[in-house]
Amino acid sequence: MAPFVNINVAMLLSLLILLSSVCSPRVIINALSLNHYGETCPSVDDVVAKVVKDAISKDKTVPAAVLRLHFHDCFIRGCDGSVLLESRGGKSAEKDGPPNVSLHAFYVIEGAKKAVEDVCPGVVSCADILALAARDAVVQSGGPYWDVPKGRKDGRTSKASETTQLPAPTFNISQLQKSFSQRGLSMDDLVALSE
Ligand SMILES: *[C@@H]1O[C@H](CO)[C@@H](O)[C@H](O)[C@H]1NC(C)=O
Ligand SMILES: *[C@@H]1O[C@H](CO)[C@@H](O)[C@H](O)[C@H]1NC(C)=O
Repeated sequence: MAPFVNINVAMLLSLLILLSSVCSPRVIINALSLNHYGETCPSVDDVVAKVVKDAISKDKTVPAAVLRLHFHDCFIRGCDGSVLLESRGGKSAEKDGPPNVSLHAFYVIEGAKKAVEDVCPGVVSCADILALAARDAVVQSGGPYWDVPKGRKDGRTSKASETTQLPAPTFNISQLQKSFSQRGLSMDDLVALSE
């Protein structure tokens, strides 16, 4: 899945939803790179992979749930961790939007965030942790490996109303294809992510 980072500054300023305590934003100015945390948190990949592995050993539904979480995150506002934010001040966040039904793997990402904070506090974004965890979940369940460039910024905005941008379960094939192509996803991506 292509990283799709698109943070609208005006949206950020309007800031309807604040942040959860666990996943707070980091200001990261570099472009994405495989070596983004090479100096500051070289073990991040290993730490996340271990948390995901432990979670899978206790619950075989974790890989699908973590991949789905990454998909929901990336589909709305890009891969910015916005799916992880809590609803605040009467405004519902993405995680409380109607399509959240099968989003039950938040604890895995929060566990990975805590483990990463233990070794390199205040460095790695939640969006990167989710992207890594999704890759690890797929690899550890026998799927393909892909490199995860890092350096995503965590978004500050998360709106339940925007979850209507996700493809609905009632969509037919042409609606699905259109919805995916608007996010730069191909028919191959659609098939892989629908399995
Ligand atoms: C899904 O949203 C409902 C409210 O619409 C909320 O009560 C529930 O806790 C949410 N589920 C998850 C997994 O966040
Ligand atoms: C899918 O639904 C749309 C909207 O209802 C319709 O215009 C289109 O013809 C449908 N496509 C197929 C392949 O059924």
